[in-house]
Amino acid sequence: MADLDQDLRNLGVEQLSKAQAAQELARLAREIAHHDRLYFLHDRPEISDAEYDALVRRNAAIEARFPDLVRADSPSRRVGAAPAETFAKVRHRVPMLSLDNAFGPEDIRDFVDSVRRFLRLDENTPLEMTAEPKIDGLSISLRYERGELMTAATRGDGTTGENVTANVRTIDVIPNQVTAADFPDLFEVRGEIYMARDDFFALNAAQQAAGEKVFANPRNAAAGSLRQLDPSITASRPLQFFAYAWGEVSALPAETQKGVIEAFARWGFPVNPLMELCESVEAMLDYYQRLERERAGLGYDIDGIVYKVNRLDYQERLGFKSRAPRWAIAHKFPAERATTVLQDIEIQVGRTGALTPVAKLEPVTVGGVVVQNATLHNEDEIARKDIRIGDTVVVQRAGDVIPQVVEVVLEQRPAGAQPYQFPTRCPACGSHAVRELNERTGKPDAVRRCTGGLICPAQAVERLKHFVSRDAFDIEGLGAKQIEAFYEEGLVRKPADIFTLEVRDAKSLKKLKDREGWGPKSVRNLWAAINRRRKIALDRFIYALGIRHIGVTTARLLAKTYGSWQSFAEAMAKIAEGDQQARAALEDIDGIGGTVIEALAEFFKEPHNLEALEALLQEVEVEDYHFEAVSDTPVSGKTVVFTGKLERLSRSEAKAQAERLGAKVAGSVSKKTDLVVAGPGAGSKLKKAEELGLQILSEEDWIALVEGRSAV
Ligand code: IVH
Repeated sequence: MADLDQDLRNLGVEQLSKAQAAQELARLAREIAHHDRLYFLHDRPEISDAEYDALVRRNAAIEARFPDLVRADSPSRRVGAAPAETFAKVRHRVPMLSLDNAFGPEDIRDFVDSVRRFLRLDENTPLEMTAEPKIDGLSISLRYERGELMTAATRGDGTTGENVTANVRTIDVIPNQVTAADFPDLFEVRGEIYMARDDFFALNAAQQAAGEKVFANPRNAAAGSLRQLDPSITASRPLQFFAYAWGEVSALPAETQKGVIEAFARWGFPVNPLMELCESVEAMLDYYQRLERERAGLGYDIDGIVYKVNRLDYQERLGFKSRAPRWAIAHKFPAERATTVLQDIEIQVGRTGALTPVAKLEPVTVGGVVVQNATLHNEDEIARKDIRIGDTVVVQRAGDVIPQVVEVVLEQRPAGAQPYQFPTRCPACGSHAVRELNERTGKPDAVRRCTGGLICPAQAVERLKHFVSRDAFDIEGLGAKQIEAFYEEGLVRKPADIFTLEVRDAKSLKKLKDREGWGPKSVRNLWAAINRRRKIALDRFIYALGIRHIGVTTARLLAKTYGSWQSFAEAMAKIAEGDQQARAALEDIDGIGGTVIEALAEFFKEPHNLEALEALLQEVEVEDYHFEAVSDTPVSGKTVVFTGKLERLSRSEAKAQAERLGAKVAGSVSKKTDLVVAGPGAGSKLKKAEELGLQILSEEDWIALVEGRSAV
């Protein structure tokens, strides 16, 4: 079966029979969904963007040839970036619509005129509108039956959303139960989940300190916090809520928009305190201007004002157009801008060597926030806008937190200002910085990258962190924080240094055990953890090198192909020299494309990388790749779930063990689970396993099982 799949993958789209096409579409749906989950949920992509795009393109090409084979779960049908199938779907009984946008006073006048025309109201008939901030968060529908929160669903595509009930139940400000006597039997409260700005900054600081992902803005942070498969993570995030609308209801508590919102407040839902009634267009515009001025001080992000017809009988008559109600409109704020002087352009070097130009600005307040840095994106962007040091520039802060340089005020350009020369060498290490050719477009990449690999100090820290990370060397007690400190002090500058640390420490006067944060025991443990990794599997080793485009899957594929470090290294040396035969052999491997080969060639061409590798190989023995027998083990064919803290094994090690023994490792407990390995702190998964009467093992039991000292 595996071989058959393999063959299909290699067939061109035009060669596929209909049955084969159906099979390929099923595989692609599965694989793309898998990569979506890794990317969006776990932030740990296994394949490069180009490899991912190739999968999506193949899917689209097959669908174009066989339109009647398009699957219900096809990746081409999924909207947006939602990790859709990780949460159950919920169909909204009343669709969750969006709003039409207005950008200026004229649009607002037109809106009010059109409402009047529709309702046939003359100028003298009063028409009240509510005005309230448009919250920059994500909308949610909360379904209450007999006062109890039954379902919480995201908006999704407006018709079907995701069931995030377990997560929403952890949000303090959202009542799980409403006890008010006048609360209708059935009521769907709708509103916005958001994160306050201060909470967002604090969360990002904590995430950064823990070496976790930071969020681009409060909206992303709110969305990321809500879309967690583990509700305890949502519970730890400071999420807020404003109720401003409703879906299916058995009765309404009032006859006006304002009246319903007041009822929401009585029932215990947070509502926005700034809502006002406006009796004229002038009053609406006045509200808009006031809020625009106060915007920065609100403590949460808003991106405009929403006006709604106040009388519900009018709303009913006005009804909906295809995607938005006729009785409401969003009046958007323009992006906030200010003018300041560009003092310098700094080049920052990222983990993969990307050189990013950053504008160093004379500090200026944009929408209540002091801005000193702004992104300039890349060198083409600087050239296109002809941005020069000393220029007066317009800076903009849109919804996103990273400000941008919009344009240059040419009239204020100082005499003698020179066009900016983007460096062609890395500012951190002096290696060449190159723009690769994009395979697909044939044009140079927008991003210039340092080729210094392991020796570039800016990249080195990030690469060292990668080197010790979970799927690489996975050295216990040596995380991002320790790597940064060791790097700073010059103790660890390249991977090999990790393995000589103990010997050097023994000779050193300033011993690690005497330093802050360390003691004799933790140092002993560290040496033990490092020494345990002096033997390492080939796939982990290749992945640990941090070569661009080589994720876990590709590393495994390479390990499987070459079998030993020696034959891998020999092939790479040839490829780096431009040997066409070696290159062709690699190209033949399904799953390896030009991008990967280029990245390998680039890496193995750089003498500094070879030196660092050689030093590392003095310390570490790379084991040959083993094809393990996967049948006939106590757990082969079983589905295992690990939950809680494991004390002797790392999660990835436990997972690898299980997979090696032919078991499937799942993330959640269901009837299909065979075994649950639970450590301290195991929560809902353990509970569910108990309810389902599944077999539950401790970590010790698991190890005994794996080592063949017991049977299941
Ligand atoms: S009313 C049927 N009021 O804006 C209309 N929406 O661009 C229901 N939003 O999907 C929406 N603040 O997520 C309404 N005060 C507010 C809002 C608001 C933010 C969001 C909501 C909606 C989107 C439309």
